[in-house]
Amino acid sequence: MKDTMIRWHPVTDADELAQRAIGMILQLAAESIEDHARFSLVLAGGSTPRPVYERLRGADTDWRAWHVYFGDERCLPEGDPDRNSVMARDALLAHVPIPAAQIHVIEAEQGAYDAANAYTKVLKGLGDFDLVLLGLGEDGHTASLFPGQYWGIEHDSRPVLAVFKSPKPPAERVTLSANRLSRTNNVLFLVDGERKRDAVQRWHDGGSMPAAAIKPGAGIKPGAGVDVLVQADLL
Ligand code: 6PG
Repeated sequence: MKDTMIRWHPVTDADELAQRAIGMILQLAAESIEDHARFSLVLAGGSTPRPVYERLRGADTDWRAWHVYFGDERCLPEGDPDRNSVMARDALLAHVPIPAAQIHVIEAEQGAYDAANAYTKVLKGLGDFDLVLLGLGEDGHTASLFPGQYWGIEHDSRPVLAVFKSPKPPAERVTLSANRLSRTNNVLFLVDGERKRDAVQRWHDGGSMPAAAIKPGAGIKPGAGVDVLVQADLL
């Protein structure tokens, strides 16, 4: 299988990263809505995406056509500020008119197993996403797929995984598998922070890590690739 094309986009600072990310997200939203009347977007967790989500609030887009999913969630109480869904709600989702029924939160307060089973049902029958947003951890993790653990790369992998030994607290999480995250037309990584230097270098040099296991279109869809907005001096 041919390797997935990775397009590295160096940015000078978080401001440029957010600006460039907005442009790419809204372009893909417009194309997706034009093509099939919906935009299926997977949101990334962590802290890097927050300024991007905040800037999206004022976007000129057809919010009614947006369908929002999450790449992973931490097993914390529903309103816990450390939940990825709470960050996304506060930064964006509470400020735009996406129909509530089109925002699909991972119910991680149920515990990893039950939440993974429930989210599997949410995703059942759903085709490829239009865009998956992801972050990068300093060890090369993405979503809640961690080095040395099961990533679910195989085509018959479970789409949603229960995680109990996350090295990044909390230990218990729910994550889409590498294979399910790869079932998308586009992937955009948002990467900044000096502590990511080693992971970026290893990835750029072809190293194996969860982030490198995300291969949209299984590497065969023409033009399918991974875009990485990355702090320039990390490359
Ligand atoms: C999480 C995220 C995780 C995150 C990376 C980068 O739940 O923490 O899913 O994969 O994207 O750890 O996090 P920062 O953006 O905070 O550096």
